Amino acid sequence: MRLELQNRPPAKDVIDLGKGWPGFDLLPQDILRRAADHRLSQNDASLLNYGPDSGDMQFRRALADFLSRSYDEPVAPETLFLTAGASQALGLICHTFTRPGDTIFVEDRTYFLALGIFADYGLNAVAIPTDENGLIIEALEEKLAVHSPVCLYTIPTFQNPTGVTLSQSRRERLVALSQRHNFLIIADEVYHLLNYTTAPAATLGSFAASETVLSVGSFSKILAPGLRLGWIQAASALLARLTADAVVASGGALNHFTAGLVAVVLEQGWQDEYLAFLKKTYRQRAAALSQAVRQYLPSLTFTEPQGGYFVWLELPEGIDTAILLAGARQFKVGFQPGVQFSPNRGARHCMRLSFSFYDTAVLQTGISRLQKAIAAISNS
Ligand SMILES: Cc1ncc(COP(=O)(O)O)c(C=O)c1O
Repeated sequence: MRLELQNRPPAKDVIDLGKGWPGFDLLPQDILRRAADHRLSQNDASLLNYGPDSGDMQFRRALADFLSRSYDEPVAPETLFLTAGASQALGLICHTFTRPGDTIFVEDRTYFLALGIFADYGLNAVAIPTDENGLIIEALEEKLAVHSPVCLYTIPTFQNPTGVTLSQSRRERLVALSQRHNFLIIADEVYHLLNYTTAPAATLGSFAASETVLSVGSFSKILAPGLRLGWIQAASALLARLTADAVVASGGALNHFTAGLVAVVLEQGWQDEYLAFLKKTYRQRAAALSQAVRQYLPSLTFTEPQGGYFVWLELPEGIDTAILLAGARQFKVGFQPGVQFSPNRGARHCMRLSFSFYDTAVLQTGISRLQKAIAAISNS
């Protein structure tokens, strides 16, 4: 039920600023039509058979080329494993590398639906505090003195929900700790390519040679979520464990047909063009949302997004945003209440807003409605 509601588009008259989806107006139907025409006219039946376990080499090569130039870091095709999106990758990683009862470290605040995946695998999530530079390494060291985690899950760049990015020096210290304490870093890097100001620090995937990093990427944020296509970048010893998975052994590449179409999108340079378009659009939307918050909610301080999809707002401590959300219905506006992103059920006065789904004018109207909803609860 929870997921069904999560994956339903907002009602027409409601502006749901909680929706972390690309807007319907942005989805690349024409690019996919051209890619399908191109690929299907090649008369290559291998597209419709089982695919190689790690993913078709033509796709992995095209993806490696794209990532190498977009990340500005060398990415070898052999280090890539095709998945059916980032969520599926997280499930597969849990299935392969953890057992029920194991401890996983997570950021406090973190992507709430990942917490659901970890709970499904019976993992015990332990929260590590974060600040404006991401995971606090000293706090992590303290937790390592009392826990022996199997994994640490982080969203290092343009984090969901806070938008913060882990600094370069913290990335290095995190990887060193993972080697010293023998835990895997699950780096969910799905927003890394959506930067609107300067380029972020190198991906955690660039530390794959440490053999402690699994970097998860996805076409959901850079092309279309409906494709259900993503990848894991990791050292060959870790990838070998993933390809040994019984489901992969039985069914082969996890989304072979779609990868065949997306290989064309990558090879033709259409992904680069589309990513440039997305970044331009999201940069404008981020600016519009920030401007509206400054205009309608001037007493709130927040960090202007440098990338990704999200703005994290902290309201006065006395306001519970889960209760505010119920009242906001009457003003036809929605958001994600902060408590969901807190492994310890804190952040009750916080909320996550997204600027990906609506155009700039609707974002403005949404924030004006939110202001009314906050005023109503503050005066009640
Ligand atoms: C941090 C993070 N990871 C994973 C996902 C889901 O990605 P996918 O659609 O590839 O499963 C999202 C989507 O919101 C996300 O924000």
